[in-house]
Amino acid sequence: MSDWTTNSNEALQLSLVRAPKDKELLEDENEYEGFQPTFTYPIFGEDEKVYGYQDLVIDLRLASGSLVQYLSISSSSKLTGKAASTVDDVEGTLYKFIPPDYLKNESEFLTRVERDAGTFRPIGTKIYSYKQIHHPKSASSQLIMEPPTQADEENNDVIVYEVYHATWDTPGFREYHRRMQIFILLYIEGGSYIQEDEETWEFVVLYEKRKRRDGPKTPTYHFVGYSTLFPFYCFPEMVRMRLSQFVILPPYQRLGHGSALYTAIYQYVLDQSRIAELTVEDPAEAFEDLRDRNDLRMLLHHKQFICEGFGAEPLNGMIIKTSKGKLGPPAEKGWVEKWRRDLKIAGRQFSRLIEMLILKHLS
Ligand code: ACO
Repeated sequence: MSDWTTNSNEALQLSLVRAPKDKELLEDENEYEGFQPTFTYPIFGEDEKVYGYQDLVIDLRLASGSLVQYLSISSSSKLTGKAASTVDDVEGTLYKFIPPDYLKNESEFLTRVERDAGTFRPIGTKIYSYKQIHHPKSASSQLIMEPPTQADEENNDVIVYEVYHATWDTPGFREYHRRMQIFILLYIEGGSYIQEDEETWEFVVLYEKRKRRDGPKTPTYHFVGYSTLFPFYCFPEMVRMRLSQFVILPPYQRLGHGSALYTAIYQYVLDQSRIAELTVEDPAEAFEDLRDRNDLRMLLHHKQFICEGFGAEPLNGMIIKTSKGKLGPPAEKGWVEKWRRDLKIAGRQFSRLIEMLILKHLS
């Protein structure tokens, strides 16, 4: 019986497909082709099992920029005869979670990948950019959180990353979102699709922007990850922006892109006078870590939070008793609340950050 049962996390193969001449630019193209989901239970059920096949492969490929999808399901054998009625309908199940216009013909898909590589452009308004400098001698690279210069745009050793903001009203974005939302189910524990009829959702999408080798001078864009934001009314006439979903695709994880996307969102929140503060919905542990590190780094850019006085001065509401006496932010009335408001950080997070700073100054 178990021979006919497949773990759906293993059967589902994901890939981000680039046009052949764009693939040559990758250090390890295998990273982008054939990465695994973390969860499939929202699609295939709590047990993450598919029944009725041997050597089942669910090959879901996405064009790296436009995210146009190709689906191919194969197996070495499938239950037949009386047992055929017990076989799980893989395509029928997936169909409920991906837009119906996916391709099933491989050569048609590859033609589409080639075409989209030349024509796809991010949808929405660019709000942030940064760069990755490749050092060929040491075969290493480094992210620099500064906008690229014209020289960077022309230098083959510099990869540019761009973040775009969109809403449901941005032409073409609704269709685009239907292609990318599958990643929420596959990578965020407890993640689910957002309602398209809730009109106020906002989106930020991160792309890698590459020069095309031997091609026309137009760049190609490759999807890296995205986040959804929901504005709540905040008295008297502002909004509190809640970061709801946040995902960086596996080939790009642990390289600093999550921090960069979070920074882009935070800068956007700071720049928008309509937004009072940024909050986060039910953060996963890894995300909480990312947020703390970036918030702390941001606070330490303000001398008020680095000065020795921060730990040593007489105290405000937040006091920690230590062997060095009581430590906390300056006692000046309203100091903490003023900074919290100016930096647009939610109350509970700001208190945590102050505590972390005290501990940091202590050590
Ligand atoms: N486990 C623990 N901490 C982590 C992890 C992890 N898997 N990934 C990142 N971090 C923390 C670390 O502190 C890391 O610093 P370090 O690399 O110096 O140790 C810091 O985050 C920054 O790392 P980045 O490289 O900037 O993060 P990355 O690009 O990998 O993005 C993220 C992190 C968003 C969690 C990504 O791994 C991801 O998309 N995971 C799957 C989906 C997910 O869990 N999303 C968050 C859900 S919560 C929400 O949506 C509100």
